Amino acid sequence: MNPTNPAPAAKTDTSEASRRESLSVVDNRTGRQYEFAIQNGTIRAGDLRKIKTSEDDFGLMSYDPAFLNTASCTSRITYIDGEKGILRYRGYAIEELAEKSTYLETAYLLMYGQLPNREQLADWVYHITHHTFIHESIKKFLDGFHYDAHPMGMMISAVAALSTFYPDAKHIFDPASRQKQIYRLIGKMPTIAAFAYRHSLGMPYVYPDNDLSYPGNFLNMLLRTTELKFRPNPTLERALDVLFILHADHEQNCSTSAMRGVGSSHADPYSATAAATAALYGPLHGGANEAVLRMLMQIGAKGSVPAYIQRVKAGEEKLMGFGHRVYKNYDPRARIVKRLAYEVFEVMGRNELIDIALECERIALEDEYFVSRKLYPNVDFYTGLIYQSMGFPVTMFPVLFAIPRTSGWVSQWQEMLLDPEQKIARPRQVYLGPELRSYVPVSERSGS
Ligand code: CMC
Repeated sequence: MNPTNPAPAAKTDTSEASRRESLSVVDNRTGRQYEFAIQNGTIRAGDLRKIKTSEDDFGLMSYDPAFLNTASCTSRITYIDGEKGILRYRGYAIEELAEKSTYLETAYLLMYGQLPNREQLADWVYHITHHTFIHESIKKFLDGFHYDAHPMGMMISAVAALSTFYPDAKHIFDPASRQKQIYRLIGKMPTIAAFAYRHSLGMPYVYPDNDLSYPGNFLNMLLRTTELKFRPNPTLERALDVLFILHADHEQNCSTSAMRGVGSSHADPYSATAAATAALYGPLHGGANEAVLRMLMQIGAKGSVPAYIQRVKAGEEKLMGFGHRVYKNYDPRARIVKRLAYEVFEVMGRNELIDIALECERIALEDEYFVSRKLYPNVDFYTGLIYQSMGFPVTMFPVLFAIPRTSGWVSQWQEMLLDPEQKIARPRQVYLGPELRSYVPVSERSGS
C-alpha cells in the first residue's frame, strides 16, 4: 500500500440490524465471500479450512509461530488482562489471595473452582500432607547425581521417575486415581526439591514433618540439622507461602502448554509434569529468576547499570526479569514481590543487590527503548533477591517456581482431560522444504 495514498477506511455500519456476531471475509483469489461465527472474541481456526481455491485445495490455515494470537483452549481457571495488569485465579484478585489466603487453599481453589469450606480445606491439607514422603528408592536415584547437578535436572528426572512407582496413574479417566496423583504431586514436589538441595550439600535428607505447614515443612526439609524439632521463622514461612500463591498458575504459558500438550496424549500426570518442569527450566520462563540474579551479580555495582542498559539496547544482552508475553503494563505479581522483599530483608538483612535492581528498574522505566516496547519488571525480577536473602543458591530458584506451579499444572491438566473439545495436541506446519527428489548414491554425489 502506498502510505501517501492510503486506502479508504472501511465503512462501519453499527445499526442493530446489521450487527451480527460474525466475521465476513472475501477471498480475493476466488472472489468468494465467507461468514464465520465469532464466539468469545474468537473465530474457529477450523472454519478457515472452508476457504479453498479448488475442491482439492487443503484449505486456508492460520500461521502463528509461538502462538502469539491463538487460543488453544477454553479455561475457567486463571484470568489475565495484560494491558491492565490484572491477574485472577477463579475470579479472585491475586492481590487479595496473596494477602488473605494460603498456598494450599489457593491450590484447592485452582483445582475445584471454589474456596473450600473449613472441612474441605482440612481434608485437602490432610491428604496433601500425608503424601509428602517419597519412596526410599527415589533417594537412591537422587544419590546417583553429581554433587553439582542442577536441582532442576534432578527434579525433572525424579518427577518422571514417580510414574514408575505409581502405575495406577495411567488411569487418567478414573476420578479417584486422578485425585490421588494430584495429592501426590502437590505433596511430593517440595520433598524432591529439598532432597535435591540436601544432596548438593552432601547433607542427610530430612523427612517431612506433618505438624508443619506446607512452606514450613519445606523449610524444615531444607534447613534442619540437629534440632529435635524444626521451627520455621514465621516471616520467612509466610513469605514463601505468598510466593507460592503468586506462582501457582498463569494460564497458558510455556510450561502449562507443555503439561496440556503431553497430557493430551494421555500420558500419566508424572510424565506430563516432568515435561512441564523441563519447560519451566528455560531462562525465558522459570529459569529467569536465576538469570536475573546472575545478571545483577555480573553488573556488580549501581554505577555500572547505565553501561549494562546500553548493552541491552544494543542487543548484546537482555535485561532479565523484564518483559512479558502477556503483561504490557505491569506484572501485578512483581508489585507484591517487591513489597515482600523488604519484609524478608527485615529478618535476613538487606540484600545489597536490591540497589542494583532498583537502579535497573528506574532507568528502564524512563528509557524510550523499554517504554516503547512496554517492558516492565516481571515476577522474576525481585523473587531472586528474596530467595538469595533466604539463603537459597541461585540454582534452587527455578525449583522454587516449580513447586507451587504444580497445582496450576494439575488443575489445567484435569480441565484439559475433561474438556470434550480437546484432542491430542497436534499443530500444523507450513512446509517450505524441498519438493520430491531422487536419492543419489554417495559415490555419485558431487563435492568432497
Ligand atoms: N530485555 C531487552 N529487550 C527485551 C526484553 C528484555 N528482557 N524482552 C523483550 N525485549 C525486546 C525484544 O528484543 C523485542 O525488541 P524488538 O521489537 O526490537 O525486536 C521486543 O522487546 C519484544 O520482545 P519479544 O521477544 O517479541 O517478546 P516475547 O513476548 O516474545 O517475549 C519474554 C517475552 C518474557 C520471553 C521476553 O520479554 C524476555 O525474554 N524477557 C526476559 C526473560 C524473563 O524475564 N522471563 C520471565 C517471564 S515472567 C515469568 C514466567 O512466567 O515465566
